Amino acid sequence: MPEAELYIDLLKRSVADALQERTWYVPVPRPKSLIKRVLSDLLAARGITLVREVDPSVRGEGSERPPRGTAWLDATSAFTLLGQDRLDNLQWCVEDVLRRKVPGDMIETGVWRGGACILMRAILKAYGVRDRKVWAADSFEGLPPADPDQYPLDRHSTFHEQRGFAVSLEEVRHNFDKYGLLDDQVEFVKGWFCDTLPKLAGHTWAVIHLDGDMYESTAEASKTSIPDSRRGVTSSLTISERCLHAPGSLGFPQEISHQR
Ligand SMILES: C[S@@+](CC[C@H](N)C(=O)[O-])C[C@H]1O[C@@H](n2cnc3c(N)ncnc32)[C@H](O)[C@@H]1O
Repeated sequence: MPEAELYIDLLKRSVADALQERTWYVPVPRPKSLIKRVLSDLLAARGITLVREVDPSVRGEGSERPPRGTAWLDATSAFTLLGQDRLDNLQWCVEDVLRRKVPGDMIETGVWRGGACILMRAILKAYGVRDRKVWAADSFEGLPPADPDQYPLDRHSTFHEQRGFAVSLEEVRHNFDKYGLLDDQVEFVKGWFCDTLPKLAGHTWAVIHLDGDMYESTAEASKTSIPDSRRGVTSSLTISERCLHAPGSLGFPQEISHQR
């Protein structure tokens, strides 16, 4: 395998925390039944937290999220929630636009701990690309409360309560730095997409990765970025599949196919 591929391959495993055979545990939610709840409270008062093992089979294809609960966000030390398969897909998109010389930068809207953006920056570095940047857009405060008047499909969203999604800009910058990839080819765009992304209108994107989970987040990001990417017909748009499965995001694929 050529050196560039070896580097990218190792980096993907690293950002996905796939290098170690670690068992993940998530705290068990406070039980509903009285007896169990009293028992669990007694243990908690002594500093003992009940945990359960995360099924290892959910790893790999990007389904690290166990069916219920969000404690896994704290449990994992991965820098990305994209599993190996989705990281492979993102790598393919970036390499494809490089191969075909599609002009433009790469952007991810919704970066969490930064792992997917770190991968995109690493690919540019591996192939000696100096004239493209990676843009990392996020509130760096988690997801917004639902705005059901404007986006009715988000009405049941409780994402804003999930503090595990709130990763600060300093922490994400630090994560880039750990890989030696914090440099002038990375731009951070801090704030709500509805405020920040319109300011990027007109920018040429070669790869767009929309991963904001909510309908609003996906719609706001696409409003700004997709018309620009369409100028270069060959550019690449990936919408995280997790995003399409998120409450509120289900109406999005139809609309986007309508627009194109
Ligand atoms: C599912 S996480 C992103 C996962 C990440 N792409 C990865 O590789 O693991 C969703 C991210 O989108 C951000 N986000 C969602 N909606 C947003 C909005 N409307 N404005 C700004 N940031 C938003 C959240 O702060 C969070 O970091």
